[in-house]
Amino acid sequence: MENATAKLRRLFALDTCDLRRIVTDFQEEMSRGLRGEKSSLQMLPAYVGRPQGTEKGKFIVLDLGGTNLRIMKVLLDGKRGAHIEAWQRKKIPPALRRGRREQLFDFLAQTLKLFLTERSNEETSFAFTFSFPMAQKSLSSGVLLHWTKGFTVSGVEGEDVASLLAEAMKREGLAHLRLRALLNDTVATLLAASYGAPKYDMAVILGTGTNACYPEALSRLRIEPGRILKDEVIVNLEWGSFNRLPVNDYDHLLDIQSPNPGQQIMEKMVSGLYTGELVRLALLDVMGKEDNRKYLKPYSLSARKLASLATGLEKEIADVVFFRSARIVGAAIVAVITWIDAHLSDRHRVAIDGALFTGYPGYRKKVEDTICELLPEKGNRIELNPVKEGSAIGAAVACALGELQAKSF
Ligand code: GLC
Repeated sequence: MENATAKLRRLFALDTCDLRRIVTDFQEEMSRGLRGEKSSLQMLPAYVGRPQGTEKGKFIVLDLGGTNLRIMKVLLDGKRGAHIEAWQRKKIPPALRRGRREQLFDFLAQTLKLFLTERSNEETSFAFTFSFPMAQKSLSSGVLLHWTKGFTVSGVEGEDVASLLAEAMKREGLAHLRLRALLNDTVATLLAASYGAPKYDMAVILGTGTNACYPEALSRLRIEPGRILKDEVIVNLEWGSFNRLPVNDYDHLLDIQSPNPGQQIMEKMVSGLYTGELVRLALLDVMGKEDNRKYLKPYSLSARKLASLATGLEKEIADVVFFRSARIVGAAIVAVITWIDAHLSDRHRVAIDGALFTGYPGYRKKVEDTICELLPEKGNRIELNPVKEGSAIGAAVACALGELQAKSF
């Protein structure tokens, strides 16, 4: 009889054939999403293209990720250099993630007010990195499609996040500030990387959640060009919701016990919020009743803790789960880059932010190996670069681009 870890290895395995199928299915979903047909990839235009690297100024940035709220003042020097001059971080109280919208937006506006009053501040333009799926019709507005990453705040889905923030800011006496850009963290990461160096064609987030974006030709999008100043628009894939993946019993169990069953299937197989939980469910199953007591509490195993283990059963199972995540990510990167350049005639840089990529031992190498497994001759034309502070610097870049858009019309 096969032993417990061998069984898990089999359940979480993806061979080259599975990966090739993922690439084909992923591109089919991309193409459907772009045509506005039913697809698990939402392909959301961000109404901004990549920067030149010459944009300059000082900007206030608000960054709401999955775990923290950060407020920063960022300087862009106009020569591809960016500097965070001041910053403040606050953990989002768990109750606010599940409460009413006024509580969340008042918290944003109050934290912003405190940040500004503690510093003498002349800047009036600011940007908001809101790391959730939004349908945008301009760079400075966006309707939340649905919450992800465990958020369930009522009254926000289907609403314009920029207006909700503006109302809360008015209540705090901050009506003089102008929101120039509302953007997803993937978009911010691509803008930040492209500001620092050319040839970035994709950004990936591998943190609490997972997602990616890439620049698409304006002609392939079904949008009114409006105020877009370039022939390309960055598209937020929302790849966390890709659902054509082979799931096993643990994936299924995690999904039905989550607040959003049936949604974010790829995210639940890949990102930091869920990989620890998959490991816990697997451990509960393979340990005897006597030994599994310490694994009874849902979401008690964090990706960070698992990343620090050196040996043992937990480590063995964590590797199985995390390396499947890395293989899915490798295949999805191949899908996007070969969508942009089918024969890999050029070299491509991919900016990657999030603790999984560099924090889990061996993860990065697994992603790279998977890319080379799928593209044995040209895989090394895809360069994966970790970036830091993408959400902050990229939001400042978006702010600069937003000011330019506003001036030209
Ligand atoms: C979730 C969000 C997505 C975000 C990602 C990474 O998948 O839906 O918008 O980019 O997490 O933070």
